[in-house]
Amino acid sequence: MRNVYLDHSATTPVDDRVSTSMQAVFTENFGNASSIHLFGREAKVLLEESRELIAKAIGARYDEVYFTSGGTEADNHALKGIAFASEKQKKNHIIISAIEHHAVLHSAAWLREHGFEVDIVPVDADALVDPSKIHAAIKTGTCLISVMHANNEVGTIEPIDEIAAIARSSAILFHSDTVQTVGKIPVDVNNTAIDVLSLSAHKMYGPKGIGAIYIRRGTKIDSLLQGGSQENNRRAGTENVPLAVGFAKAVEIAMEEREGLAVHYAKLREVMRSRLTDEFEAVILNGHPQLSLSHIVSVSFDSQKNRVDGDALIMGLDLRGVAVASGSACSSGSMQASHVLTAMGRDRETAKATIRFSMGKSTTEEDIHYAIDALHEVVGTMKHAVSS
Ligand SMILES: Cc1ncc(COP(=O)(O)O)c(C=O)c1O
Repeated sequence: MRNVYLDHSATTPVDDRVSTSMQAVFTENFGNASSIHLFGREAKVLLEESRELIAKAIGARYDEVYFTSGGTEADNHALKGIAFASEKQKKNHIIISAIEHHAVLHSAAWLREHGFEVDIVPVDADALVDPSKIHAAIKTGTCLISVMHANNEVGTIEPIDEIAAIARSSAILFHSDTVQTVGKIPVDVNNTAIDVLSLSAHKMYGPKGIGAIYIRRGTKIDSLLQGGSQENNRRAGTENVPLAVGFAKAVEIAMEEREGLAVHYAKLREVMRSRLTDEFEAVILNGHPQLSLSHIVSVSFDSQKNRVDGDALIMGLDLRGVAVASGSACSSGSMQASHVLTAMGRDRETAKATIRFSMGKSTTEEDIHYAIDALHEVVGTMKHAVSS
């Protein structure tokens, strides 16, 4: 049996060049980057070089990038840090979109429980946020607008340039979760009025457990962790130098390979989209047809016309060696219909009968055909089970 991994939006394997870059750091450059002796200074140099590489990839200054434990921490830091810093200026209203990752959505819910006001702006059937709706939600007390760059479940790319400009013209801070986009499509803090953004290494062939937050100079934001003065007092805790080095290497490789891979993914997506729509009954392709990440294909089986169970689909494909997601990786295992798909107007049963294929650099056209053939078998078994 073939093994076909089509869940790269959940996580990617670590690139060999990334693991090589980290190995020596684990054993030889093990010093604490805050120590002033030689071992510490060597580690500090590696840490700062890594920061500089990551900053360069998003057009930032090196002292605007702070390492975190991943995208989740960066999102929590952005929302809670800005909310608490703004409260001191009597501003306590936050605007987010309905399709944000749980790290943003649940941070906003937590802030609501702690006295902040949160407005959740809806999306259209393609998961696009309408900038005029963001504009309409602004109040005197609005301190933050947070809209992700591209959605992890359906791939839609949001009009963050326009939304950021709206925020800037109203003197409101703008945060964007760019976890799914840095290294895949251009992100430049000089072209977009982003004040804070979130990054994660393991979506771009880097290690898990490390990410970063970009904070534009002068942005008022509180720290989440209290302790030592690491990361310029923004993020206490001994720095994870090996992972930072691996993260920087992953970013460097992703920037080099980005354009070629986008073309490769677009071709595979075309093959997949046409087989899905030509060969299956009543399927809906989710996400914007043009404005979307080329490595993601999300498909729903319309519950009005099909009796397809999403979890059984995932399991059936898994038994045939094909790994896909039923929605956001972070909510897999949960039986809840995806908040993204329901926000797009899918009914709960259709949302549950949804699978997300996400391609990676090693994905071939044969893999796509194998996955679609396997899907035929699984859907066929279900139909058989219903009719017998
Ligand atoms: C859009 C988005 N934001 C945030 C996260 C969380 O990142 P991490 O796994 O590094 O905590 C994810 C992970 O799935 C994601 O897709």
